Amino acid sequence: MDILSQIDSQKVPKHVAVIMDGNGRWAKLRGKPRVFGHKNGVKSVREVIDAAGNAGVKTLTLYAFSTENWKRPKAEVKTLMALLLTSLKKEAKELNKNNIKLQIIGNQESLPKSVLKGLNKVIELTKNNDALTLTIALSYGSREEIVNAIKNISKKIVNNQLSIEEIDENIINNHLYTFTLPDVDLMIRTSGEKRISNFLLWQIAYAELHFTDVLWPDFTKNDFYNALLEYQNRERRFGKTGEQIETTNEI
Ligand code: IPE
Ligand code: IPE
Ligand code: MG
Repeated sequence: MDILSQIDSQKVPKHVAVIMDGNGRWAKLRGKPRVFGHKNGVKSVREVIDAAGNAGVKTLTLYAFSTENWKRPKAEVKTLMALLLTSLKKEAKELNKNNIKLQIIGNQESLPKSVLKGLNKVIELTKNNDALTLTIALSYGSREEIVNAIKNISKKIVNNQLSIEEIDENIINNHLYTFTLPDVDLMIRTSGEKRISNFLLWQIAYAELHFTDVLWPDFTKNDFYNALLEYQNRERRFGKTGEQIETTNEI
């Protein structure tokens, strides 16, 4: 039996986030420069987008470049940005055909103008699609996102648009870059590292975490399906007891 058919369509995570890690090490193993790994990572992006669509995941968020990644060598950053732009341009039609809506989260001001322009074209083209929302985290940092949210909430308080008493989890959610997205149900990180690296800290409060040793360029649809299967075998208790979960049949 193939792996996809083992997935229970009633228990598919609504929102899957992926930390795509290990490109550099994948290239090094082959005696190639790091950018060779980034180039080969593009096909894995295609794999997870297809796999998410096949499994019925409605929201997929991919960590492509962190605020901290700006500290990498200039040449690597430049290649990463160029790669992003060319692959998105290439994939635009396919994304649209598959009814996928593209959006980006992160600090847009720090992105090269050409990248932003290219991205915005695809975002515009796909804005009415609704099979899958694909969010690329680009120049994204969770702490920066939270700082931003606090600034914007504070401005509203100063302008009397909001009172301190009104601040609750919903208000904070609504001021994050991810305000249109549900909480993350499953976060996957490849390459064997077991850390979050400043990704969606607020949004993963109750996410299930899946770490795999597979390096990103080797990540396939089946790896994604396996992560979903593992997720479906976990018991999400949200603070309750196991017995409570069994009797209410909640997931
Ligand atoms: C992930 O692979 C891609 C980005 C962070 C942009 P890495 O480039 O971090 O690969 P490793 O971790 O050095 O192997
Ligand atoms: C996290 O990977 C960021 C992305 C995958 C885009 P890194 O490779 O930059 O993370 P650290 O620095 O090793 O934690
Ligand atoms: Mg890395």
